[in-house]
Amino acid sequence: MDAESIPLARPEIGAREEELVLEVLRSGRLSLGPMGERFERALAEWLGVGDAVAVSSGTTGLHLGVRALGWGAGDEVLTSPFSFVASANCLLYEGARPVFCDVDPQTLNLDPAAVEAALGERSAGILPVHIFGFPAAMPELEAIASSHGLGLLEDACEALGAVDSEGCRVGARGNVAIFAFYANKQMTTGEGGVVVPPSPEVAARLRSERNQGRAADMGWLDHDGLGFNYRLSDLAAALGVAQVERLDDLLARRGAAAALYERGLAGIDGVTAPIAARGAERRSWFVYPVRLAEGIDRDAVVERLAGRGIASKAYLPCIHLFPHLRELGWREGQFPVAEAAAARSLALPFFPAMSEAQVARVCEALAGSLS
Ligand SMILES: Cc1ncc(COP(=O)(O)O)c(C=O)c1O
Repeated sequence: MDAESIPLARPEIGAREEELVLEVLRSGRLSLGPMGERFERALAEWLGVGDAVAVSSGTTGLHLGVRALGWGAGDEVLTSPFSFVASANCLLYEGARPVFCDVDPQTLNLDPAAVEAALGERSAGILPVHIFGFPAAMPELEAIASSHGLGLLEDACEALGAVDSEGCRVGARGNVAIFAFYANKQMTTGEGGVVVPPSPEVAARLRSERNQGRAADMGWLDHDGLGFNYRLSDLAAALGVAQVERLDDLLARRGAAAALYERGLAGIDGVTAPIAARGAERRSWFVYPVRLAEGIDRDAVVERLAGRGIASKAYLPCIHLFPHLRELGWREGQFPVAEAAAARSLALPFFPAMSEAQVARVCEALAGSLS
């Protein structure tokens, strides 16, 4: 792509990030230093929760979350097929079986009625994903979970800052919830994640397991159980502290870019924009996924946009159709709503610094690329 190209995502890293990373470098405490705790406190405070446990990625956070809920061999966990593959893989790591349920056509999140219909004797829990930053139907899913004695793990990797139908910030309902900070996310630490623990006991277990099974009062070669190296480095935590400081601004600017898109796409036949809100629910803008009408050749659109220097991506493939999940018996046609979304969604360039001119250029190019 040439200099005028517009990427799919672009993180915002500035002087404050440089300053704090330098502070860590100069301190010599590159891991397990004070910056890690500073990041955890800053993020917990921003979320309005009691604690946050930093980990090396969203995926490792999900893995620890599955372990914290005790899901393992013989357990079935109801989850969304319209997600990033890590939300199902984290169950497979522990020998639990993902049981996919179809999604709501508007929010693309788990449909509570489909969850209810898929309950079985082996159901041990529900793993909702707040996809594309839109809050999942948590009150309804919590009601199902509590009436059937199921655990709940929220994959909030794409939804930092979203607000649910009861006005509650995603991740702050008292369930185990995981956020992720890859470079395209609402805020980034390069790689990284955070687990919101439901209690101090779970927090202690998470901190031990991310650190090779070492409790807080143990020496380096002492271990009180199976553990992993899922620690977040202090360099990454320094980025995180700086990003939390400007998180409100980053989210507001993502919202502004989304509003520009909504206006720019209005009137383009065959392109449906994602919703920003529904009742009290508020999306936290992560990517900008439009839906193309049936009959439009999405691959050709991607190619034509690329020819004009504009990145775009078919987003997301259904995860029940990947080979390692097909091996477990999942097939095409089982989840028509999710499969239709997967066939027709297209992510457009989206980042806080997108200018009005860039959004206009993408909209114009898209309109000219549909046939
Ligand atoms: C829904 C969802 N779950 C899990 C993850 C995994 O996060 P990470 O890439 O930090 O491991 C992501 C990130 O891309 C995600 O979008």
